[in-house]
Amino acid sequence: MTRNTIRRAAPLALGLALVAGSAMAEDVELRPGAGRELVEQNCNSCHTSAYVQMNSAFLNEAGWTAEVNKMVNVFHAPVPPEDIPRIIAYLTAQYGAR
Ligand code: HEC
Repeated sequence: MTRNTIRRAAPLALGLALVAGSAMAEDVELRPGAGRELVEQNCNSCHTSAYVQMNSAFLNEAGWTAEVNKMVNVFHAPVPPEDIPRIIAYLTAQYGAR
């Protein structure tokens, strides 16, 4: 591949990724509940809320606590520390495994 090909291909790939990302984000509407807006603000920038739905069958309060901490500590999700307890409470109430 020449340098020219690479330069032309990169913006195309980025454009497709953005289109796919926004289309998926529209598909998922989180359940209403206290703290939903915090999840929408803090948990949609790297992947869609489909990740929350997909894991609701497995994660109880301890599981969601570990999950949110992993997002922050391992993946460096920029979540304000004071929002973390409310995010976990929302996820447990609306998407906790029973
Ligand atoms: C900085 C980027 C980033 C942010 C912000 C982020 N995540 Fe993630 N998340 C990831 C990555 C990376 C993965 C794992 C890779 C994959 O499977 O695509 C992941 C995976 C997940 C999974 C699937 C299970 C797993 O552990 O792989 C869940 C559930 C999840 N995230 C929930 C959340 C929640 C809830 C928030 C908000 C508190 C959040 N994420 C914010 C990067 C992020």
